[in-house]
Amino acid sequence: MRGIKNEIKRGRPDIVHFCLLEACTIPLFEQDKMTVYVHTIHDKVIEIGKGVRLPKSYHRFAGIVEKLFSEKKIKNNNQTLLSLQDMTFSELVDKIKPDKVLGLSSEGKQSSYGEVAEICTDKTCLVVGGFPKGEFFDSTKKRIDALRSVDKRQLEAHVVIARVLYEYEKTVFM
Ligand SMILES: C[S@@+](CC[C@H](N)C(=O)[O-])C[C@H]1O[C@@H](n2cnc3c(N)ncnc32)[C@H](O)[C@@H]1O
Repeated sequence: MRGIKNEIKRGRPDIVHFCLLEACTIPLFEQDKMTVYVHTIHDKVIEIGKGVRLPKSYHRFAGIVEKLFSEKKIKNNNQTLLSLQDMTFSELVDKIKPDKVLGLSSEGKQSSYGEVAEICTDKTCLVVGGFPKGEFFDSTKKRIDALRSVDKRQLEAHVVIARVLYEYEKTVFM
């Protein structure tokens, strides 16, 4: 990635794969209580279909995403597993119409995982950076209502996703 624009945020689709596995293999997702989207640096939005089981193997995942970029939809029988649209982050928020947009970043206000979960509702849009380094772009920050940090250290995105969703899941199922 060296030398290309925004190099520190590029070249790690394996991070997105890991994050998706964390988010899409839990009861919250399997019981259709959460929708998952990936917004890319080139303003493409991937919507993960309801209850989709993504490949655990990175190579199979990469193959499916390549097919998605060429065909715009991956279907199985009548169900859309993955779909791809041209959309900015702001347009995605307009489409989702959340009650609030909560960004997770080490630069946010310090909170526990439980506190983050408590302020989430079933209409909250949680935003996590699926990139190795760097911050959200200003255009993304403009649509974020509150930024929360769950640790003084910078953590890997998949760890933050797993922990926040686990805490939120407890408020839904218990
Ligand atoms: C490797 S980090 C990117 C580095 C970014 N400078 C940061 O510390 O948030 C990838 C993503 O994980 C999440 N993340 C990492 N550390 C976090 C923290 N302490 N609190 C909340 N979210 C965090 C953020 O969503 C971040 O965009």
